[in-house]
Amino acid sequence: MTDPTPRILCVDDEPMNLSLLEAMLTSQGYDVIKAENGREALSKIWSEHIDVVLLDVMMPGVDGFEVCRKIKSDERYRSIPVVLLTAYAARENRITGIEAGAEDFIAKPFDVVEVLARIGMLLRVKGLNDRLNSAYGNITSLITFGEEIIAKFDPLRFDFMAYITGIVGRIIGTSPDMTDNPRIVLVGFSGNGRAGGWHKYECAGGMLISAPLAADLGPELAALATSRRIAYLNQADLESTELQRLTATLAGMSIRPVNMVCYQSDSLSLCALNYGRQVTGYDAEVLNSVVAQSLFLKSLAIQVKETEDAFAYTVYALARAAEANDDDTGNHIKRVGEYCALIARQLGMSGQYIDLIRLQGQMHDVGKLHIPAAILKKPGKLDPEEFKVMKQHTMYGAKILGDHVRLALARSIALTHHERYDGGGYPRGLKGEEIPIEGRILNLADQYDALRNHRVYKPAFDHDTTFRIITEGDGRTMPHHFDPQILKAFRELAGAFAEIYEKLNG
Ligand code: C2E
Ligand code: SIN
Ligand code: FE
Repeated sequence: MTDPTPRILCVDDEPMNLSLLEAMLTSQGYDVIKAENGREALSKIWSEHIDVVLLDVMMPGVDGFEVCRKIKSDERYRSIPVVLLTAYAARENRITGIEAGAEDFIAKPFDVVEVLARIGMLLRVKGLNDRLNSAYGNITSLITFGEEIIAKFDPLRFDFMAYITGIVGRIIGTSPDMTDNPRIVLVGFSGNGRAGGWHKYECAGGMLISAPLAADLGPELAALATSRRIAYLNQADLESTELQRLTATLAGMSIRPVNMVCYQSDSLSLCALNYGRQVTGYDAEVLNSVVAQSLFLKSLAIQVKETEDAFAYTVYALARAAEANDDDTGNHIKRVGEYCALIARQLGMSGQYIDLIRLQGQMHDVGKLHIPAAILKKPGKLDPEEFKVMKQHTMYGAKILGDHVRLALARSIALTHHERYDGGGYPRGLKGEEIPIEGRILNLADQYDALRNHRVYKPAFDHDTTFRIITEGDGRTMPHHFDPQILKAFRELAGAFAEIYEKLNG
């Protein structure tokens, strides 16, 4: 894309001078905007795009110094270079001009070659300045986006696609003044060596829209392969023969590239096309760092997820090792976890707490590892001495789980899941709210499942019988053993308890 024709504002109260300047500049391919006084000059500045101002100093009304001061004191127009045209290069005039913020002075009558040379130089400087400002704006926007992502980065819920869409939105920029930004971004995903989908993103009506691409650009981009992952191409590069296949494929999808910056890797490729200016190695570096950050977060999320899965698996394996109830499938402990999650949700606990108690509730009986099999597997009723030993499984559990912060909930559950709300439980005889909420939840969940199951010492009860034992009591179990709000939740959720039991049976 070629840069647009520079627009020069010429301000002079002498129509002859204006015509002269116009003829001179138009012949060099510049667009000329004319103003005959200071007021008119300012209204042009405020309403049109201007690249350089040639400003006569001596004018009736608002003079050149005043116009210059107004331009330079306004954030929006400050970057427009101002050249003062002054009849006498008097020292005081120059100082006033410098103080007003003028970039340059030309003495009248002016020399055509000199005027053109100065304008060319100022335009180059302004071009570089604008580019720097726009690059600064882009970088700032991308950094802000990165900071937002990191601030609320939740590796277990990280959505790579949504993240890439956010990044692409920032690269394209949805506001209409971001004309330097690329118009189109093509994103290719692939995983496990297999080619994935390509998507085209562009901005339409201030909104980022995306559509799947018909072709896989991977093989075509291979033509760009260098030792680096990044490449940038301007018009001349794109016309080279090696890239004919790529441009033909893009043309087939109605995409006409005028410039392009590409990033390629095994899992993600990104092409930004049609910036409103020439592209440089700088654009390639920006794209590179953006993609590097995305891939880093993705890999971090995957690793955290793997560690989390391994942790959950270890919890489950440990809980199963202690399974003393002849349950080969390990479903009893899974069900207890699920009932706990149900109750916690009904009590209005957070999603995080629900997940935590679902997992760690599974370890409530881990202390049974230390109870002799002769007691655990005794077909009949335990005698008081045996039951005394049995009760120790709560303390053993807490000891096995230790004091790691990640297992704090599991430890508390192991210790308190046989406490009763009326104070008649064990090991400490805690009462009411003295029993941590997780212990109160587990107590009901555990009993529901123990009642539903066959044990060496008891037959299996159906749901209705179990419901009656818990809500009405059977002597061993009584309603006042439970936290009233948890018992209430159980009444409301009884159907869901039965469903979980059926679903995870055996
Ligand atoms: P468990 O079998 O997992 O039972 C957990 C809890 O469910 C029991 O805690 C009790 O509150 C309730 N529960 C289980 N079966 C029944 C039942 O038939 N009726 C009523 N009302 N509630 C029942 P508890 O009593 O503190 O027992 C803890 C653990 O001690 C039991 O875990 C089990 O492993 C063992 N245990 C308890 N009683 C006996 C028994 O008579 N014989 C044998 N072999 N083990 C027993
Ligand atoms: C007990 O109270 O330990 C045994 C009674 C039963 O299994 O229901
Ligand atoms: Fe227990």
